[in-house]
Amino acid sequence: MRLNPAAKITHKERWGDYVLLTLESPDIARVAAPGQFLMVKTAPGPRPLLRRPLSIHDRGDGSLDIFFKVAGEGTALLAQKTPAETLDILGPLGKGFDLELGAREAKKTAAPAVAVGGGRGIAPLVFLAAEMKKAGRPLKLLYGGRTLGDIPLKDRLAAAGYAPACSTDDGSFGFRGLVTDLLKSAIAEAPASAVYACGPEPMLEAAARVAAEAGLPSELSLEARMGCGFGACWGCVHRLRTNGRESWVKVCEEGPVVSGGDVVWGEGA
Ligand SMILES: Cc1cc2nc3c(=O)[nH]c(=O)nc-3n(C[C@H](O)[C@H](O)[C@H](O)COP(=O)(O)OP(=O)(O)OC[C@H]3O[C@@H](n4cnc5c(N)ncnc54)[C@H](O)[C@@H]3O)c2cc1C
Ligand code: FES
Repeated sequence: MRLNPAAKITHKERWGDYVLLTLESPDIARVAAPGQFLMVKTAPGPRPLLRRPLSIHDRGDGSLDIFFKVAGEGTALLAQKTPAETLDILGPLGKGFDLELGAREAKKTAAPAVAVGGGRGIAPLVFLAAEMKKAGRPLKLLYGGRTLGDIPLKDRLAAAGYAPACSTDDGSFGFRGLVTDLLKSAIAEAPASAVYACGPEPMLEAAARVAAEAGLPSELSLEARMGCGFGACWGCVHRLRTNGRESWVKVCEEGPVVSGGDVVWGEGA
């Protein structure tokens, strides 16, 4: 875990409530892994007091991208930042995705892994897709939102060669329905080797169920309210079942990425 009190913003894009910022931070970028996150100070003064957790969206040469949706006070302040300003960031934090999940099966069948992002949940999956590409593991990217405005990265991802399959609940773009229904039909149409997912909790629960029904391993990036991001405050606990025993674990340390089969649903923080 490293502190960079002055990570320079070198690029910004905005689509409605969604914002992408590129930050210069070579030390953190060098050691970051897909699924890990940053704790970001959203304003220089005492308010808001707590840093906000944001996934590492992608990594460049000495840089990191974050991609977020304005949800409240902290993200609204972040959305006002402009290039050449700096951000105080702490990271990389937490346990990320296992790039080898289902890899043994994939070697036999050449079946791709599937990554499912709901709305802002696409954030950590782009870094995952980039690292899977480097590792030579095929990955199918599914990207869903309530409506067209909730999948603002679709063209950017297509241009980067990830060919996302998109869904909207209202049918305004792509498959009409939930992204987990798209997952179900994608798995029914062609074999898959593993499922990775990030998004709201009901979506994660559905993704884990679809994966389990298809006999596939899954990993989910959980969202919990976080005070510190590194194990000191117990603000982020979620109930998990490991080796047959249930316990409260700190999402910032044991996660945010956890095995889909381990989550006890309806018992978040
Ligand atoms: C490990 C991790 C990675 C995350 N990565 C991203 C990301 O890449 N992009 C992104 O847009 N968001 C991400 N989030 C969610 C993001 O941290 C929250 O949206 C943000 O902290 C809200 O802060 P705020 O001050 O804007 O809103 P607040 O004023 O604090 O809250 C506004 C609303 O958001 C809800 N909320 C606040 N924090 C969370 C949370 N952690 N989980 C769920 N709901 C919350 C509150 O209940 C409230 O309804 C991540 C969360 C975690 C735990
Ligand atoms: S956020 Fe403080 S212990 Fe997890």
